[in-house]
Amino acid sequence: MTVGSSPEFPAPLGQEAPPPSDTRPQAELLEPPVAGGALPFLGHGWKLARDPLAFLSQLRDHGDVVRLKLGPKTVYAVTTPALTGAVALSPHYIIAGPLWESLEGLLGKEGVATANGPLHRRQRRTIQPAFRLDAIPAYGPIMAEEAQALVERWRSGEVLDITAESFRVAVRVSARCLMRGSYMDDRADRICGALATLFSGMYQRMVLPLGPLYRIPVPANLEFNRALADLHLLVDEIVADRRASGQKPDDLLTALLEAKDDNGEPIGEQEIHDQVIAIITPGSETVGSMIMSLLLVLTEHPELGDKIRDEVKSVVGDRPIAFEDARKLTFTANVIVETMRLYPAVWILTRRAVTDTELGGYRIPAGADLVYSPYAIQRDARSYERHEEFDPDRWLPERSKDVPKYAMTPFSVGNRKCPSDHFSMAELTLITAAIAAAFRFEQAPGSDPRPRIGITLRPRRLLVRALPR
Ligand code: HEM
Repeated sequence: MTVGSSPEFPAPLGQEAPPPSDTRPQAELLEPPVAGGALPFLGHGWKLARDPLAFLSQLRDHGDVVRLKLGPKTVYAVTTPALTGAVALSPHYIIAGPLWESLEGLLGKEGVATANGPLHRRQRRTIQPAFRLDAIPAYGPIMAEEAQALVERWRSGEVLDITAESFRVAVRVSARCLMRGSYMDDRADRICGALATLFSGMYQRMVLPLGPLYRIPVPANLEFNRALADLHLLVDEIVADRRASGQKPDDLLTALLEAKDDNGEPIGEQEIHDQVIAIITPGSETVGSMIMSLLLVLTEHPELGDKIRDEVKSVVGDRPIAFEDARKLTFTANVIVETMRLYPAVWILTRRAVTDTELGGYRIPAGADLVYSPYAIQRDARSYERHEEFDPDRWLPERSKDVPKYAMTPFSVGNRKCPSDHFSMAELTLITAAIAAAFRFEQAPGSDPRPRIGITLRPRRLLVRALPR
């Protein structure tokens, strides 16, 4: 892996062909062992609910593939880098299962993040050009401007609520880059408000699918429903405005509006709508969570901030950081990659087997739900020396080549790999460099940096004082 040394914005990925699979008939394959510690009736569910990070991380001691009992349901957990790579790259698994069904119910059924098969392939072809490496420089000025705006917004000595600040900038960058237009500025703030409410309510609806209870008109449900309605309304407004303007800038929204289905017909309104939501929602949640984790790291390791400041000084001097500088900020990039290793925004992934298949010599029946955790894989002592230690230099080219394949895939691999890996690395590099060059950071009273387990992983509540350099 050459994360720190490449002149571009390499994302820490591995793609390539799936590892060879076992060709023995199903009957000769073994059932994976059941993980220890299951309780009568509840199975492993209580452990998964109580401390999912610790629970998923220790599963590797029970086997490469283990069965979990979640109430009456069996779920297959995959615990080695090679086998998670095999799942991500295999055509035998699709996006489905309870996690996705609850997301579809809220965000729409026709977006790229939840579609499968030919529809998914066509949708990826439509959105991919907006995220290609050669498209990223066009977003540079917006990313650099938003990073600089953050530095100007924050005052020395001020206590900052990093949750709000992180999600705000993440939404603004996605919305301004991918759906260009000056009208976006105030809408970006509205999208941000709606998403903040939705993200906190969404995880709860996923892990506690209490159906009708969420329709009871108590304040939390009313607020959630208002935010959801507002997000859908905002997307309709953005699409209508773009159409009314008659403009067709070279951006993702134009690509969606001009997209054709497999018969050469324009795609339907619902699909355009769901696509915008399917891209803006994961884009903001993940980047916002990563910015929070980066700020946490900068408060816990002030020496890293000092080194980033030195790197910025030597590469950029005293002028504001421009997009062209970012690819030379290799230490900064390595801090980001190491943050992604220890605090991967996407900490859990699920798939469903579409056919009887084999994994690591074990039988996986059609319809089985699989789960694996980038968090557990990326903290495994078998893949990383001093695995819990924050060490950005492990991403120097001479050291990163020793990292086992698929032991570092925060953007996933295969056909569902995040389209936005280069985009996100460019954005995070510019933001981290700009804020660390301008300020030192310390946590303020009331801050609670323990992990918050939601749709993404991030600190619970991060209150930070920005101090002058
Ligand atoms: C998918 C991570 C930023 C849009 C994914 C997946 C991961 C991921 C792991 C694969 C999910 C799976 O396999 O089930 C991240 C991380 C990010 C990030 C760590 C930031 C640091 C973004 C941004 C956007 C975005 C900025 C858009 C603006 C998407 C979409 C998918 C996706 C549309 C679904 C792709 C598909 O199913 O074909 N992301 N993401 N992501 N991401 Fe990202």
